[in-house]
Amino acid sequence: MSAVDDQSLSTITEACHYGTLALQVPTPQLLCGRSKETLTLIEAYQKVLQNKDGALSKTVIVVHGQSGSGKTSLVDELRDPVDASHGYFCAGKFFQPSGGVSSQEPHSAIMAAFSDLCDLVLQSLDFDNDRRIEIQQALGADAKLLVKAVSNLSPFLDGDSQLGGIDTKNESALAKFKVACKTFLRAMSSTTHPIVLFIDDIQWMDEGSRQLIDAILHDDEMRNFVLILAYRDEEADSAVDMFRGFREKNSIVDIAMTNLDAGAVHEMVSALLGSSSEAIGVLSDLAVSKTLGNPFHVIKFMETIQREGLLLFDVDKSSWIFDIDQIKREMMVSNTLMKLLSRRIQHLDRAMQEVLKIASLLGYCFSGDMLVQVASVALEEKHTKTTATELVQSFLAQAITEGFIERTKVGYQFSHDKLQASFQAMIAPSDAGRLHCHIGNQFVFCTQDEDYMCHAAIHLNSAREYIQGKIPNDRLGRINLEADDKLTSINLEAAKRCRDKSAFVNAASFLRYGLKLLNGDEQNKWTRNFDLAFEMTETLAKMELIIGNLDACKEINAEVLRRSKSTEMKISSLVIDVEVRMAGNEMEETITAAKRALKKLGVIMPRRATVIRGWSGYYVGSASLDDLTF
Ligand SMILES: Nc1ncnc2c1ncn2[C@@H]1O[C@H](COP(=O)(O)OP(=O)(O)OP(=O)(O)O)[C@@H](O)[C@H]1O
Ligand SMILES: [Mg+2]
Repeated sequence: MSAVDDQSLSTITEACHYGTLALQVPTPQLLCGRSKETLTLIEAYQKVLQNKDGALSKTVIVVHGQSGSGKTSLVDELRDPVDASHGYFCAGKFFQPSGGVSSQEPHSAIMAAFSDLCDLVLQSLDFDNDRRIEIQQALGADAKLLVKAVSNLSPFLDGDSQLGGIDTKNESALAKFKVACKTFLRAMSSTTHPIVLFIDDIQWMDEGSRQLIDAILHDDEMRNFVLILAYRDEEADSAVDMFRGFREKNSIVDIAMTNLDAGAVHEMVSALLGSSSEAIGVLSDLAVSKTLGNPFHVIKFMETIQREGLLLFDVDKSSWIFDIDQIKREMMVSNTLMKLLSRRIQHLDRAMQEVLKIASLLGYCFSGDMLVQVASVALEEKHTKTTATELVQSFLAQAITEGFIERTKVGYQFSHDKLQASFQAMIAPSDAGRLHCHIGNQFVFCTQDEDYMCHAAIHLNSAREYIQGKIPNDRLGRINLEADDKLTSINLEAAKRCRDKSAFVNAASFLRYGLKLLNGDEQNKWTRNFDLAFEMTETLAKMELIIGNLDACKEINAEVLRRSKSTEMKISSLVIDVEVRMAGNEMEETITAAKRALKKLGVIMPRRATVIRGWSGYYVGSASLDDLTF
């Protein structure tokens, strides 16, 4: 049995009892073995700071490595230097899809960072009304396009922009939104206040976000601006694709996070134990061989041996005690992180497992109220309502104590996405529909917030088979959604919500899914629920145009035209008919479509235009439409 004595331990509080002293997870300021990477980051930022004449275009930093290698912690090291130099460090993160379905708000990571940025600008010591007006003017009409997407933008809006609104009539809506985002970043930055925009975990970005990041990445006009993107090597297909073309023409500061060396792991273990004694050497050597130097795994390894009673703190002797051979024996099984986790999960009370399975479907981050609402309904089968609610609350508290869940400013989150994934993996496929159905129903009925419509649609879409009655609804199903029409309307609502936030790609996928439900009943969808079918189809045609799926747009729009019952109903699709051809540079077809539209609207075009001499001496007029050639 080894004992680690150290003076530093004497300062540890009296309240610590034998064996229960918690490990001290190193704070980001205590990053071990990352001085080279930290320096690279700081030097890249310093170059931006020194660029007072604004000659240097934006700086792109890519941080990548395995899960738990310390990417987020490394970039966080830049926060203090940026704050100290009056820069704005704003960050957003993507989350792992829940049960294969992304339940995050469209553009969530980017818009969260933009909202942070608004707050930071408002809080700057030199912010005054002149600067506010300057930003307002720089934003100009673009402000309107961002109102619904960026939550803290209102202090920078004039009365007119407050109303917001996106013109989704034409194909340039998406392009305009991307421009508005770039205008926003330019308006907020200055030589005295550079922006560091950190987008974490881009391996989980949605398609709309990918396009937005791509637009920012390729903007050469951006000054006083650092874009930091972090991703996991092992899940990074889309991220790697995004940089493929970019790297060839532009320089990127590339930081690859390799595993820590033995010295750094030793430093980490010492920091975790609050001791720098040499006796720790054998323990840290074992940690290196078990974890290969992955910092997150080092922490989990140390937590596990402590939890399993293999590492104890002796208060009387003020020392950690352990038997290295026993640890080697007990931890002989290949202790991959997943194995360590699943061992702990398997030992949990079944009801607690059930609650955490539901939490895992709610997302990596979730609201405590929502978990209590959904999970207590699930427990009501065996308990009264009050007991069920109390049970869920106590399981949540226990999960925090056990280190599965952490509190955040706005709710809760899993302490690691692998944990969330482990609970999801415990859900039997036959049970997933039931759980998604409960969650979706709660989002539909228990909240007034229209933001939740997307979440409702995502969960109910995943529960469609269950809802349809192939598996009968149990008494927990709050609403009877056998009719696909109901689910289609929910998808339409979700799509409108996304459209209002300029998340056109997401809007299109809700509409496509909703229409597929109606298409299941192709025979009578237009007679049974004409209004719904028409609105879905018409909105999808617009979205396909905006996101550049021109062939799909033409096909869908042709159906809208065919189904329109009045001239009024035709107007929007006649416009789309012209725009989709214009977007494809088909000039002759554009003119033909325009003539067709005018004819349908009853506008009579003169065969030849008359040339009129205007009062100012200019000639006003046009040639015959038939004579125009290209
Ligand atoms: N060099 C280090 N020294 C000490 N602790 C570290 C170091 N690197 C990371 N950690 C700790 O390891 C844990 C995981 O780090 P972090 O979350 O930064 O990893 P990551 O690469 O961002 O992981 P993920 O891919 O899951 O996002 C954190 O608790 C962090 O404080
Ligand atoms: Mg991370």
